[in-house]
Amino acid sequence: MMAGVPYFEGLSEKTLKAIANEGKLISYEAGRTIVGEGGAGVGFYLVLDGKVEVRKGGKVLATLGKGQFFGEMSVIDGQPRSADVVAITPARCWVLVSWSFAGLLKAHPEIALPMLKELVKRLRAAQSAPAS
Ligand code: CMP
Repeated sequence: MMAGVPYFEGLSEKTLKAIANEGKLISYEAGRTIVGEGGAGVGFYLVLDGKVEVRKGGKVLATLGKGQFFGEMSVIDGQPRSADVVAITPARCWVLVSWSFAGLLKAHPEIALPMLKELVKRLRAAQSAPAS
């Protein structure tokens, strides 16, 4: 499943297997809050199946699906979770703890650029969203 994730394109099967083994697969029922705003967070999440919604203050900020990530903000800066992320269908995520996430980017810096591009895309979407 990890082989179909665009961020990992270009990595050898052996490397991909090693990376996959660093994280764990977790399944969530529809309606389950995966990360809660204000909570402490050490997990980076990659959606392998299903859909999740990013919610803050009653607003839906984004809907994320297969191959997309969340939880990177707290993992990067150690601050509390910035939003709720809720499974809106049964969902399966690959979850990596922060120290493994840092190790992954150090060992494979080529993964970072497409992730930064996705973050810039999210920032632009947030800038163009109507102010609440
Ligand atoms: P984190 O703050 O660790 O936990 C909540 C997550 O929601 C956050 O990381 C991001 O991955 C995600 N998130 C927060 N704001 C947005 C947004 N505007 N668009 C998409 N995802 C977001």
